[in-house]
Amino acid sequence: MRVGILTGGGDCPGLNAVIRAAVRRGVSEYGFDFVGFRDGWKGPLEGLTMELGIPQVRGILPRGGTILGSSRTNPLKVEGGIERIKDNMKQLGVDALIAIGGEDTLGVATALTEAGLPAVGVPKTIDNDLNATDYTFGFDTAVTVATEAIDRLHTTAESHHRILICEVMGRHAGWIALHSGMAGGANVILIPEVPFDLDQVVDWVESRFRSHYAPIICISEGALPKGGDLVTKDGSLDAFGHVKLSGIGEWLAGQIEERTGKEARTTVLGHIQRGGTPTAFDRVLATRFGLKAIEAVKDEAWGTMVALQGTDIVRVPLQAATGTLKTVPKERYEEAMAFFG
Ligand code: F6P
Repeated sequence: MRVGILTGGGDCPGLNAVIRAAVRRGVSEYGFDFVGFRDGWKGPLEGLTMELGIPQVRGILPRGGTILGSSRTNPLKVEGGIERIKDNMKQLGVDALIAIGGEDTLGVATALTEAGLPAVGVPKTIDNDLNATDYTFGFDTAVTVATEAIDRLHTTAESHHRILICEVMGRHAGWIALHSGMAGGANVILIPEVPFDLDQVVDWVESRFRSHYAPIICISEGALPKGGDLVTKDGSLDAFGHVKLSGIGEWLAGQIEERTGKEARTTVLGHIQRGGTPTAFDRVLATRFGLKAIEAVKDEAWGTMVALQGTDIVRVPLQAATGTLKTVPKERYEEAMAFFG
């Protein structure tokens, strides 16, 4: 069997570990050969490929990013996109596809399997917002990076008696803010799921100063004030119709300064959270996903996705992951609130 692999959407530490594991097991155990599709769905859509075998996956386990490249190309928005992908796969002799991606990439994989194309999915996103899997790889790395940043912000905030705000990724789900804020001892965490009350945030900030510590606020890029709107970068949309976020941290700093008269500054972690080497946890999870994904191909389990449930890697229908997003439950946020103020 000839298997195509693609990585789509925002990149994420651990993508190379998935590719390596699928290729290693596919070649040595099942006698498959592989083709790498370049730059997400753009690869199969335009027939852009690269050689993919044991030599190409040597040494890539700890490498961040993806050797295949990625993009947010949406073939469902291209006229005849599905037919073009089918034709290209036929011409290249590709019998099956492994799509590694988040909500958007796996949404396309779902549509393609419904159109008769043999594909399996692997869940990826630093945001950890895909359903049916307890964790996505990349999340642990992003949380580790953000936690280290918050640790560093504590000491400088205290030297200068100022409020420091750390803006992290998380469009609809506040998992990165919740986990890094909790691990880093932030004293306010603001997430998209719970619109915040500005007066309450100011009270928490003031009470922190009263205890002679400097306030650290960890905020998701998708967080918003009660009755307010999302703060966007420039209003532009990506190919899947998502508006580009970033700016809520700056906005909040301005509001806090106005209300408290104290200096507030913002650090936006941005793509630093997505770059670099994966943590050991992410390397292991991504490797286990790759091993199971190629097994799903061998079993011709089309339309399924590999997922972590407890400590097991299982197969679930692709739709189970992308139908609705996994957001932070109220109880999890309330746990963190014990440390606010
Ligand atoms: O991968 C998802 C994500 O991390 C979101 O949290 C964020 O809004 C988005 O990627 C930004 O990605 P890019 O800058 O590549 O469009």
